Amino acid sequence: MAISSAQEPEVTIDGRRVILLCSNNYLGLAADPRVRAAASEAALRWGAGSGASRLVSGTTDLHLELERALAAHKSCEASILFSSGYLANVGTIATLVGSGDVVFSDELNHASIIDGCRLSGAARVVYRHADAADLERGLASSNARRRLVVTDTVFSMDGDLAPLQQIVELCERYDAMLMVDEAHATGVLGSRGAGAVAASALAGRVPVVMGTLSKSLGSAGGFVAGSVDLIELLRNRARAHVFDTAPAPPAVGAAARALEISIRESWRGERARELAGRLSRGLRDLGYDACEPAAAVVPVMVGEPGEAVELSRRLLEQGVFVPAIRPPSVPPGTARLRVTTMATHTDDHLARVLDAFSLVRSGRPARPAAVLPRPAPRSVFVTGTDTGVGKTVVAAALASLWSRAGRRVGLMKPAQTGVRAGADDARFVVSLAGLNAEDIVVGYELDEALAPSVAARLESVEVDPSALLARLTALRARTEAVLVEGAGGLLVQLAEGYCMADLARDARLPVLVVARPGLGTINHTALTVQAARSRDIEVAGVVICDFPDDPGLAEATNPSEIEAASGAEIAGVVPHLEGVDVDRLRFPAAIDPRPWFGPALGGTFDRELFLRSLEIRRMHAPA
Ligand SMILES: Cc1ncc(COP(=O)(O)O)c(C=O)c1O
Repeated sequence: MAISSAQEPEVTIDGRRVILLCSNNYLGLAADPRVRAAASEAALRWGAGSGASRLVSGTTDLHLELERALAAHKSCEASILFSSGYLANVGTIATLVGSGDVVFSDELNHASIIDGCRLSGAARVVYRHADAADLERGLASSNARRRLVVTDTVFSMDGDLAPLQQIVELCERYDAMLMVDEAHATGVLGSRGAGAVAASALAGRVPVVMGTLSKSLGSAGGFVAGSVDLIELLRNRARAHVFDTAPAPPAVGAAARALEISIRESWRGERARELAGRLSRGLRDLGYDACEPAAAVVPVMVGEPGEAVELSRRLLEQGVFVPAIRPPSVPPGTARLRVTTMATHTDDHLARVLDAFSLVRSGRPARPAAVLPRPAPRSVFVTGTDTGVGKTVVAAALASLWSRAGRRVGLMKPAQTGVRAGADDARFVVSLAGLNAEDIVVGYELDEALAPSVAARLESVEVDPSALLARLTALRARTEAVLVEGAGGLLVQLAEGYCMADLARDARLPVLVVARPGLGTINHTALTVQAARSRDIEVAGVVICDFPDDPGLAEATNPSEIEAASGAEIAGVVPHLEGVDVDRLRFPAAIDPRPWFGPALGGTFDRELFLRSLEIRRMHAPA
């Protein structure tokens, strides 16, 4: 089955958009615009291919930097890259053990581990799946000089976790070397996605930690992390490293960027896990045989290959793509659908998936309980009373709120100014809300931090409002709610004789006015609302941004004064968020924007309660 689009939560198959439910792109980074940009930047700077093996001329600074970053991520001294996870396993096992040695391998280990064991020439002892007692029996009865225990941490086809603590203790007790494969745990488990070893507080006690760049890190390649001595040994002896052309720069650049993002945006791993848990519970409620997942892999057991293929075919008819996994990939009699979740799946995707499974089983959509309530977000043009008042934070919070509620959200930034100094508001919104790359439209990127018409003139760029409107129409057609984030205030010129308000009017979008909480805001807000209304633009309300926890008298009285002077309602209040920095893509790790916006915007903010609480505060303020 060929896919004709990128690895996003929805993909195109045979011209139809279907939900992708089987990708290992757990964090949604394979199609992330920042990761794509890193791949193309690496291609432009370092070339498409690496030209030779690492020991000849294939080592670039890029490879070494990623190796350092991966080692740090896994709390190890060093790491080494391979062209794939498959080669990392095969090359490492065949280097660590050979004839006369014994390798102990879980019966459900990945094929690349099995092939590495075979290639090594060591005697093989296959222990029962995740059975530490069986492993101990094997270790106790072996007197080989060198013994290696190897296991997946999260099992690729079963989604469960190896009993790591017990395995580590056994290896220490029986003086065996331990190698773990973190392919499905990296990015998804552990603090900042460091993996299952970190999640079990076993860092430093597992000498050989293998992982892939092809799953959570959205790229291609594999790696092993461990001591400097181990990595030096592999660098010089692992044939899958020595005799293989070095990983291609675009793959390395993309993985490096994805690693940074996965660490900073640790909500991605948490979200993928949370969705997997909800999905497996929903499937069990529908009568399917789905285990509680340890990470983002949920096996739905079927049994016979023909039945699994039929289930997969019928799900595809319902718009869900998840192929059947059959022997020899899994043991006979255990054909299944290997369902996986991605951080970028929305709640709506989850509800649609459960509906599809339910329809296939019982001819009915999933019970209403399985379908999450959908608030009613609407498209808005986010403007501000001034520059720097928090438009981008508000747009990002709304995008995140709406996409969490299951809407496919589009973002348009008609003009991004200040690009030379690194300004990239769309990137901030995307990093907070995780939108599809194709749903982000930046009309013009202009170097100077000036009004767009001025910045464009300096660069001899002609801003064409009708082209922007056409792109906006197309964006609205493929999404369910669109946020347009203007540049500067409403009367700032986008092109000569055409201001932001003109764009909002021509796009027939209501404006949401972002205002500051302190002195000066009443007049600015009233003028902005007036400018909109004089053009017949609907005003969706005023959002006060950066509202202090402990408001002074001005902040406590301004909201009701704003309403009185502008005739627009306070539609939301975003609190002061410590450490938010739009330019550095910083925002609090766990934000829940629901309480910041009123019900019309999809949140739970209670305007009356807010105004009343300020009134009480004002009455008790010291005279
Ligand atoms: C557990 C496990 N190890 C290793 C690999 C191989 O990784 P790659 O696909 O990067 O070659 C995979 C993926 O298929 C896997 O599931």
